[in-house]
Amino acid sequence: MSRPSPPLEPEPAELEAQTRAVAEFVLDHLRSLDRQPSFDLDGVESVRASFREAVPEEGRPIEALLARLAPAIAKSYNTAGPGYLAYIPGGGIYAAALADFVATATNRYVGVSGAAPALAQIEETAVSWLCTLMGLPAGSRGILTSGGSLSSFSAIVTARHERLGEDFQGGSIYYSDQTHYCVTKAARLAGFPRATLRPLPTDARFRLIPEALEEAIREDRSRGRRPFLVVPNVGTTNTGAIDPLPEILRIARGHGLWVHADAAYGGFFRLAPGGEALLRGIEECDSITLDPHKGLFLPYGLGALLVRDGGALVRAHRESASYVQDVAEEGSLGFADLSPELSRDFRGLRLWLPLMLHGVAAFREQLAEKLALARRFHEELRADPSFEMLDEPQLSVVAFRLRAPEAVAERLGPELLRRVNARRRVFLSSTRIRGRYALRICVLSFRTHADRVRDAVMALKEEAGALLG
Ligand SMILES: Cc1ncc(COP(=O)(O)O)c(C=O)c1O
Repeated sequence: MSRPSPPLEPEPAELEAQTRAVAEFVLDHLRSLDRQPSFDLDGVESVRASFREAVPEEGRPIEALLARLAPAIAKSYNTAGPGYLAYIPGGGIYAAALADFVATATNRYVGVSGAAPALAQIEETAVSWLCTLMGLPAGSRGILTSGGSLSSFSAIVTARHERLGEDFQGGSIYYSDQTHYCVTKAARLAGFPRATLRPLPTDARFRLIPEALEEAIREDRSRGRRPFLVVPNVGTTNTGAIDPLPEILRIARGHGLWVHADAAYGGFFRLAPGGEALLRGIEECDSITLDPHKGLFLPYGLGALLVRDGGALVRAHRESASYVQDVAEEGSLGFADLSPELSRDFRGLRLWLPLMLHGVAAFREQLAEKLALARRFHEELRADPSFEMLDEPQLSVVAFRLRAPEAVAERLGPELLRRVNARRRVFLSSTRIRGRYALRICVLSFRTHADRVRDAVMALKEEAGALLG
């Protein structure tokens, strides 16, 4: 006879046992993070295959399920570990996991403010902190999204609505040739065909050239197009480049364009000493994409869109229906009025709790350390004749390639990456910059400190030396 399935509402003792089992599992994992390899995909196919299975008719004990999860977690890039320097890391501070636990276990509804007014206030307050940290004035508003891609989408829809109205045919969007592809994806989702998208050239440091923007706007205007939006970068993914915001703002204002900063990666560096000067102009932008799951070290799944004129968000997103009349508070806005979503998780808590628990000073300190580590890494590699550096660090990304004849660098670059990663202490990624293969690191995890960056330098120097003979 088969065992009865656990009820959907387990007894308190069983609930407690399950909670303890999960907590132990997580804490064990965190305790071993430092010793875990920077990535491990050996034999992952069999682990993966073990999860291709039919829906079970009957439940299983949590311990057995956690035991199955362990190898699935282990066989992956260790994106939470100190050696993760690939793409754009975040790390995932634990306080956010605790917040998610509380938020999902209590399962309150924050899509409309009337259903949990004080919880909605927590989220609104946390978002207003982000506005303040970016230097936006009173009247600015924002939303929390699943990440930069969705923030870009809502930003483009908002800019479209404000500058072009219902008929947006002929609207043109400007950005640099280094801009993250989520911007063009968002533009296409927002109804702009590829022909309306205008990538612009960048200078020697990969920053948008303002004169090229001015020229493109004039040219498009003369052809009857409707330039309405420019998306400057505050930290590109390739090299961490910051576009010249003051000049872009001046040109955009002159032509009536909306300025949306993609500060998904770079925006939080405004919190570091000297950050306000470094990111000068961000406080003047019409909207800002900012990813707490990057620069605030939160776990994947939390982005933000901040808008200078909060009313613009409302005008672009608000709909209504009689079946929400009981919770639609007179004169009060819910997140559903500002964003594409209605029902969703109470994600404000995963921002509020870490900031309350640790205080902003702890984040400032971390961000300053990441900038210093990237500079240190750059100095070390620049001093080695095996490497060609692609730029001085503008933030915490450093891109470089082997100093060798073009064909040799192209051939040996991927091999260098493979060998360094194979040591499993650090994990780097590559890109192509102006058609040339480049390796890069991004120092952004709160768990990455000088020792790992030294490991990365040492591995690169040794392997490059061996490859170039
Ligand atoms: C500069 C930049 N913008 C936008 C994005 C997209 O953000 P997300 O992956 O959260 O959608 C990224 C992702 O790495 C990024 O680096």
